[in-house]
Amino acid sequence: MYRKNERLVDGLEEDQLTSYRAWLQYRSIGDEGYQKKVLSYFSSIHLDCNRDVIIDRALEEIQLAMFEMVGFSPNISQNGGSFVINVDSNLAKEGFQVKSTDSGLTLTGGSSRAVLYGIFHILREIQSETPLNTMDCYEAPKNAFRMINHWDDMNGDVERGYAGQSFFYDDYQFIKDRARIHDYARLLSSVGINALTINNVNVHQVESHLITDKYLDEVKQTSDIFNQYGITMYLSINYASPIEFGGLDTADPLDERVIQFWKQTVQHVYKRVPQLGGFLVKADSENRPGPFTYDRNHAEGANMLADALAPFGGIVIWRCFVYNCKQDWRDRKTDRARAAYDHFMPLDGQFKDNVVLQIKNGPMDFQVREPVSPLIGGLEKTNQFLEFQIAQEYLGQQRHLVYLIPQWKEVLAFDTQAKGEGTQVKDIVSGDVFDQSISGIVAVSNVGNDYNWTGHTMAQLNLYGYGRLIWNPDLSAEAIALEWTKQTFGRDHHVVDHIMQMVMPSWEIYENYTSPLGIGWMVNVSHHYGPNIDGYEYMAWGTYHFADRDGIGVDRTIETGTGYAGQYHPVNRDVYNALESCPDELLLFFHHVPYTHQLKSGKTVIQHIYDTHFKGVEQVEAMIDDWQQLKNKVDERRFKDVSERLDHQLYMAKEWRDIINTYFYRKSGIDDQHKRTIY
Ligand code: GCU
Repeated sequence: MYRKNERLVDGLEEDQLTSYRAWLQYRSIGDEGYQKKVLSYFSSIHLDCNRDVIIDRALEEIQLAMFEMVGFSPNISQNGGSFVINVDSNLAKEGFQVKSTDSGLTLTGGSSRAVLYGIFHILREIQSETPLNTMDCYEAPKNAFRMINHWDDMNGDVERGYAGQSFFYDDYQFIKDRARIHDYARLLSSVGINALTINNVNVHQVESHLITDKYLDEVKQTSDIFNQYGITMYLSINYASPIEFGGLDTADPLDERVIQFWKQTVQHVYKRVPQLGGFLVKADSENRPGPFTYDRNHAEGANMLADALAPFGGIVIWRCFVYNCKQDWRDRKTDRARAAYDHFMPLDGQFKDNVVLQIKNGPMDFQVREPVSPLIGGLEKTNQFLEFQIAQEYLGQQRHLVYLIPQWKEVLAFDTQAKGEGTQVKDIVSGDVFDQSISGIVAVSNVGNDYNWTGHTMAQLNLYGYGRLIWNPDLSAEAIALEWTKQTFGRDHHVVDHIMQMVMPSWEIYENYTSPLGIGWMVNVSHHYGPNIDGYEYMAWGTYHFADRDGIGVDRTIETGTGYAGQYHPVNRDVYNALESCPDELLLFFHHVPYTHQLKSGKTVIQHIYDTHFKGVEQVEAMIDDWQQLKNKVDERRFKDVSERLDHQLYMAKEWRDIINTYFYRKSGIDDQHKRTIY
């Protein structure tokens, strides 16, 4: 029942295993001809390189997969074989090459890690039944850093976690049974993730001690597990650690005692955990401590840590999610959207080489629709990571099906114009445009200890897709969804077609029944779920969307608004700044307009709001129809799990529709043309 390299054996029921295996199902191959070919191509493995722990994991994987798919586990030898594995350091470190003949394959990796990626690649292709003699390829990741951030707290909760509890900690201790961490590392490496943090960016008192002897043994053991799968571990730290446990009364980065504290602490940490990648820091953000208390800026704050980490090759990842948490609604000039750029642009070029700034994809906070952060394309002399959120905090919290890759594709394809036309985000964050020593992409994880990892079975696709997309941003959203569907649910056309129909438009569907035209938020205070038009907490005593009887939207123009539009390079600045050229989907992000304003679609704003909200609900109904077609084609457990989530999604979509449409009907006094029932 359990398979050799699935380590979690306790606590799972038989019918939960399929969910747990996520996309590593390795179904038995149905086509007899193809099965025979696989049997002959992989009848024996010739290992033409040194064995190490990562190669061991790669071999284990292919043996398991072959056993599951064709019922035969190939022998490994150093004396020839149909499938040859070797390492050639002339290739890119994480790159691999596959060469085929009529009777075998050769996989050459630039390193052991690359071999592991190559094995997962081949297994993915086999599950799609790609002809073996056409598998020739060379693959290398576009982004050097491909990272996941966990927001796990040591009490066992996951901040913004929608898939159960943490599988790292419980009750302020590391969980002793690390089986699940192995299985997780395997899932991550199968899609090319090579870095992760294991604790929340909000580092509370207990977690501050992760870098002390109290926890370092377990930190090391956890890091060792990830290392076996080619993944480097990092820790989030508390900027006030010198006060929290260092016996000092200050955390001033320029204070000699603080500098010494960090040097000694880092030295000690690296003695115990030499493979650690470095620190992630959320400072002076949402009440977290930071250098501002001491009148120092972010560069001074980060560089001090960077100096302490440099001798060990460690890096500082410094987040740019910095804004004024409570804004007075009468103040229409202070603008949260401006904050990151206002804080960090003046510091461009002042950060050390081993500091990297982590920038959320939009200027707000992972909304259903936002423009791209102007810092990306703004900063030219600073290392940068782009930050996405796989956890669907504002996108249905993994109770709604929302495929995020189409959204991220738009972000990556955005032309910043930083070096003239064609300076896309994907090339900036990969370090191809500006000279950066560290670059890549990070995302907030969506997993927990639920048996299917992600609460919603379909949310596994976002984790899978994230890894695949940042490996190769040119993969289409369709291609990624298709790969995932075949591996997760099998190749039956009927199944694949219906799932693709559900998944592909799901972001747009969610947008339709929630917050319109780029205005964002409209969710309940603190937990951020469900409609509440004036509910979001950052605007004190008022609304951030400025809806009144005459109109709605935030004026972020240069002439009369907050000036946010002016943070973009000229072409984008002008497009967003002018009402005539601003794209419909971001209209209310940049402009305050009357409800009767006519969109490019030809509809008025108010009509658009009504229509999209009705349409969104109908689209969820269609999604449910699609899924119902798969009864008896998908195992019962997953069928039932997804059905339940979809029913809830429909319930919530109706609630959104009714609340939004009623609110705007009452505000504007304008009924919609179709005279639909108003709630
Ligand atoms: C959001 C989220 C917080 C999180 C923060 C961050 O505001 O609601 O829970 O801490 O983002 O990214 O730091």
